[in-house]
Amino acid sequence: MNVEENSELLPTKLTGQNIYLRTAKMSDFEAIKIYRQDPENSRYIRPPENDDETLRIVDGLCKPWRFKEGQWNGFVICLTGDDTVIGEIVFRVEDWHNQRAEIGYRINQTAAGRGVCTEALKLLVDLLFKDLGFFKLVAKCDPRNTGSYRVMEKQGFKREAFFKEHYLLGDEWTDQYDYGLLASEWNKRS
Ligand SMILES: CC(C)(COP(=O)(O)OP(=O)(O)OC[C@H]1O[C@@H](n2cnc3c(N)ncnc32)[C@H](O)[C@@H]1OP(=O)(O)O)[C@@H](O)C(=O)NCCC(=O)NCCS
Repeated sequence: MNVEENSELLPTKLTGQNIYLRTAKMSDFEAIKIYRQDPENSRYIRPPENDDETLRIVDGLCKPWRFKEGQWNGFVICLTGDDTVIGEIVFRVEDWHNQRAEIGYRINQTAAGRGVCTEALKLLVDLLFKDLGFFKLVAKCDPRNTGSYRVMEKQGFKREAFFKEHYLLGDEWTDQYDYGLLASEWNKRS
């Protein structure tokens, strides 16, 4: 790993072809609230948030990254030439000893279906493997969330597990797919 467990890191902007990733600002709250409080957007993640919950998330996204297990870090996503936030892509160390991180992403429905998450995932994966030195990345999703696992599969993540009634989403027990990608596989692709 190229960071320590107690490192603090101020991430730099990552620029792609159609999007860029940057650190959040508190002034992004209204744009972030649109998707985090949208019942449709939250359908396979968790019940929509209230303002206090969203404020806590935005505040967390504004802070330097920490590599303590379980702590989410990440970027907001913007379209090239427009600083309005359309989504976010995040990660947390799942297991420090085994150099493994979990990834998550979501975007405003108005930006869906245009390759945004696919491009954002590529940028973050590259950073986590090549710059930070993780060994493996994982991501989880509801099997009904085809768009989410297609994003992973397009970047080479492989489905490793299916768990039945594994995740309590509101008052519904939902199934879960677990996906994984090794740094060695990523390096072969790029
Ligand atoms: C699901 C989501 C992440 C997809 O992001 P996106 O930027 O729209 O995805 P992309 O445009 O990069 O598309 C990637 C692939 O998924 C497919 N796809 C995207 N949305 C889809 C959907 N709703 N149903 C079926 N396939 C879908 C695309 O067709 C594309 O595959 P293809 O190249 O083979 O055609 C996004 O719509 C979202 O944020 N949804 C709500 C929050 C969420 O569920 N997050 C994931 C939690 S695990």
